[in-house]
Amino acid sequence: MKYDYILFDLDGTLTESELGITNSAAIALKELGYPVPNDMRFFIGPPLFWAFRECGMTEAEANNAIAIYRRNYEARGWREMDVYPGIPALLKSLKLNGAYLAIASAKPEPYVKRIAEHFGFGKYFDRIIGSNAEAHDTSKTAIIEAALPAGIDRSRACVVGDRQYDIEAAAEAGACSVGADYGYCEPGELRLAGATHIARNVPELTDILLGDSPRAPGVFITLEGGDGCGKSTQLRLLNDWLIVRGYETLITREPGGCPISERIRELVLDVGAAGMTPECEALLYAAARAQHVHDVIAPAIEAGKVVISDRFLDSSIAYQAYGRELGEQMIRQINAPAVKGVMPELTLLLLADMNRAKHRLTTAHTLDRIEREGDDFVGRTNLGYETLMRNEPERVKPIDGNLTVDEVFSAIERELKRVF
Ligand code: TYD
Repeated sequence: MKYDYILFDLDGTLTESELGITNSAAIALKELGYPVPNDMRFFIGPPLFWAFRECGMTEAEANNAIAIYRRNYEARGWREMDVYPGIPALLKSLKLNGAYLAIASAKPEPYVKRIAEHFGFGKYFDRIIGSNAEAHDTSKTAIIEAALPAGIDRSRACVVGDRQYDIEAAAEAGACSVGADYGYCEPGELRLAGATHIARNVPELTDILLGDSPRAPGVFITLEGGDGCGKSTQLRLLNDWLIVRGYETLITREPGGCPISERIRELVLDVGAAGMTPECEALLYAAARAQHVHDVIAPAIEAGKVVISDRFLDSSIAYQAYGRELGEQMIRQINAPAVKGVMPELTLLLLADMNRAKHRLTTAHTLDRIEREGDDFVGRTNLGYETLMRNEPERVKPIDGNLTVDEVFSAIERELKRVF
């Protein structure tokens, strides 16, 4: 790595934060009877007072608008933002390589800390510095000075920021800089300010900061549960939760997930294949999994993505080892060459009441070969899942699927916060 000490600006560098700012400004404009302009980007960066005056407000109105703005920003605007895709993977990789990381932002420090905590990236930073009128001078240079450890070789330090003053302050502090050209800068602004490097997007920033150093692997999560437990809805919510936080996700499913395995899926779920033996069924699921892990799951984890699979090996344990009564030992044996040690870090097991699941299932679509099995089979698969839960409590987390969609997701969110 070229740099050992890396300081990040927040807005326009780690987070795409315009939504909270423009929403809060729009509320203030509306309350004071001013029209809301289509393009509100001039609210990002310059002082609010100036921006409200630009809208035609008197000084007194602009001060009033700032008070309304602050109230709304405090209530919810501060979290109306997205983390740029790829940022958590970059931070994790930098940490893996031993870098010192800090946030150096001109935003009030309590907000910076709250945002870093809320979006889950606070844990990567050794120091989080924002503007803090009481403790120090609030110029960007002073913020950078406060974020750097004492006595270091400043040529090994780098500031990443999206505005001219970030780049100039870095130079004043004797550090190098990367201009985050994907942020809120004007075209050419960062080059003109003398940025050491320019990154047009997060992948370019990653290459500049990491060079040939190893990248941290991604995370593998699976969703499990009996048929009709409500996995699909939760999968969408889970994906949205991760995307807002800057994770690059890959959603996949079993059986299937890649062309060859989707063909196996057609066969294994086909109601016309009524005479299929339990052994044939178990081997087909394992065969589909082998291709899926090879073509999709393993490469995506290596690329630093969060892979979420709707079902995985645990389904074979529940359905074939317990449901078909083939036993765990055999299922683990035939799946060992398929998964090659690739196992989820977190498995969310949705448990829904049997009758409720049955109702959900029969109203949703025509039943496939497995879904046509009777209550005894369903009872045995549930027992299989309970056994997994008991044997691997650290990985397999039960989620009560009988609650409302929001309540179920809150329970999932609690588990996600432990991993992310
Ligand atoms: P699918 O329509 O994907 O069901 P769901 O929406 O409930 O996930 O069908 C997959 C079916 O295959 C489901 O009944 C569970 C079963 N299955 C197994 O029996 N063993 C396995 O290893 C896997 C992955 C799935």
